[in-house]
Amino acid sequence: MAFPESFLQELKMRNDITEIVSAYVGLKRRGRNMVGLCPFHGEKTPSFNVYTENGSFYCFGCGVGGDVITFIMKIENLDYVEAVKFLAQRAGMNVPENSYDDSMSKLRTRIFEANREAARFYYATLQTPQGAVGLEYLHRRALSDRTIRHFGLGFADNDWTSLCRHLYDKGFRDDEIVAANLGVRRRNGGGIYDRFTNRVMFPIIDLRGNVVAFGGRIMTDEKPKYLNTSDTPVFKKSTNLFSLNNAKNSGSRTLILCEGYMDVITLNQAGFTNAVATLGTALTSEQAMLMKRYADEIVICYDSDEAGQKATARAISILRNAGVLIRVLSVPSGKDPDEFIKSKGKDGPAAFKAIIEKSGNDVEYRLSKLRQLYNAETTDGKVAYLNEAARVVSTISSPIERDVYATKICNELGIDKGAFNQQMSRILHSSNREAAKKEIRQIQTDLSGRNDKINTEHYKKPRSSSAEEALVVYLINNSDCANEISEKVKPEQFQNLFIRRYYEYVLNRIENGLEPLTNLAADFTADEVSKLYELMSRSIPAASNTDAMREYIKVINEESTKLTADDVKSLSDEELKVYIDKIRKNKQ
Ligand code: GTP
Ligand code: MN
Repeated sequence: MAFPESFLQELKMRNDITEIVSAYVGLKRRGRNMVGLCPFHGEKTPSFNVYTENGSFYCFGCGVGGDVITFIMKIENLDYVEAVKFLAQRAGMNVPENSYDDSMSKLRTRIFEANREAARFYYATLQTPQGAVGLEYLHRRALSDRTIRHFGLGFADNDWTSLCRHLYDKGFRDDEIVAANLGVRRRNGGGIYDRFTNRVMFPIIDLRGNVVAFGGRIMTDEKPKYLNTSDTPVFKKSTNLFSLNNAKNSGSRTLILCEGYMDVITLNQAGFTNAVATLGTALTSEQAMLMKRYADEIVICYDSDEAGQKATARAISILRNAGVLIRVLSVPSGKDPDEFIKSKGKDGPAAFKAIIEKSGNDVEYRLSKLRQLYNAETTDGKVAYLNEAARVVSTISSPIERDVYATKICNELGIDKGAFNQQMSRILHSSNREAAKKEIRQIQTDLSGRNDKINTEHYKKPRSSSAEEALVVYLINNSDCANEISEKVKPEQFQNLFIRRYYEYVLNRIENGLEPLTNLAADFTADEVSKLYELMSRSIPAASNTDAMREYIKVINEESTKLTADDVKSLSDEELKVYIDKIRKNKQ
């Protein structure tokens, strides 16, 4: 069951797409649309469009599109029903009861509740005799009781069923506990047991204050050192950051990006509340986009070991793509931030502040790495260093900034800036050409549709598909032509079965007197919704031209009567005659 149409229409009317999107994206008017930098992928020139007239958005850069409900689903990480409720609440509307399938939302709510209950339980255990080892461990790592309370740290005891039993008492069922990944089914089918045992527990809290997952640290050298909640209906490792809920209220537009839970907690205790960490995985572009919503500048503060330096290089490239300012902090003497601060005792906060202030941007960091790599005392080393350095400096887009670095490098090594600049322009020239070639190749594959993961049939039958896609868009924009169109084109004539689904769906809604797209997100996946908005945003110019419509119909009719060479071979003479007559009729 879906939400009532009238409710959804009012919901959309009361939640103006431009207003909603503006809360997340800086929009500027361009012609009839509004444009801005896409919040879903990193870009420097705006390709994110908001179409006020039909209440939709579409990004030409990453292909995400939809209506106001889809936008909220994506940006707030909500499912369909939750997004509708979010918008209803914003507009002060009551959500009609029992009119829709909310089994997924209900499960998600239960998981949030179970997680919250588990966090309380772990926290309470810390104060019991069974939890004493955990509390001792945290104290030994120099965390104060205030910090422990602030982060809600806790302890999973060694009993194997204590949490499950506690959750039963609170009315949770096996399937809910397993879905939250707080319990695991026994192999022989006899009930469930606790996922986390004998570990210090770190709750992971999302931006709305929900406990979405846990990390658990073992107190010995056993492996795995950290165990995290697997992905659940409320949690995806790659899109969450530890302590972003605290950092977003830090009052700073700078975030400190660390590797681990303990780094973030120690930094908080030292007064740096703007610290966040990935959850034991390499930084993803989703996480970078999420940080960008709260920060203009990101200080990468990874371990100084080899793995940490590799991760730094990767993070630099991801953050550059997201378009934020980057600084790279190197913690002295091979320590992580947690160890560094503690080693300085009560001077920890001041010492950390000093190294942050000393940290350079990503270019300076990369140049200093190169200096370590090559021996500039030898001629070969010097040449290799300069070549690599020219490569790094040439990635800076501002000419003035490029010149500053070029001057500095050349002075240091006592070489002529003219030669260095020449080398840079050679690199720039060839990388521009590479970029142009790559873009052309990309456009070619995009046009062929060969890489289209959603509309997979397009490239096999480009002619009929193009006409079918255009007709669907035309129908959406001109529902008054539905009768004429449906008389001339039957769904079975669509060669592209994926596009046929849209056609049947839209036609059906119009015939029932409904707006074609009001409820799209309930009936199609997010990618399918995006794909339809992509088709719409491509053909909006030719939107209400009846000649175009007749042309699409003609092509669809032609293509649907076409037979393959094999088909023709198998026809009888009589059948072949009928077929030829049909083609002649189409041509007229
Ligand atoms: P402490 O030893 O407690 O100070 O942790 P750390 O943060 O210094 O650990 P480390 O540098 O080894 O790891 C950094 C981060 O990677 C951790 O905070 C975890 O998020 C993650 N991590 C480390 N070990 C594991 C592991 O065995 N499994 C998983 N899933 N994540 C891990
Ligand atoms: Mn550590």
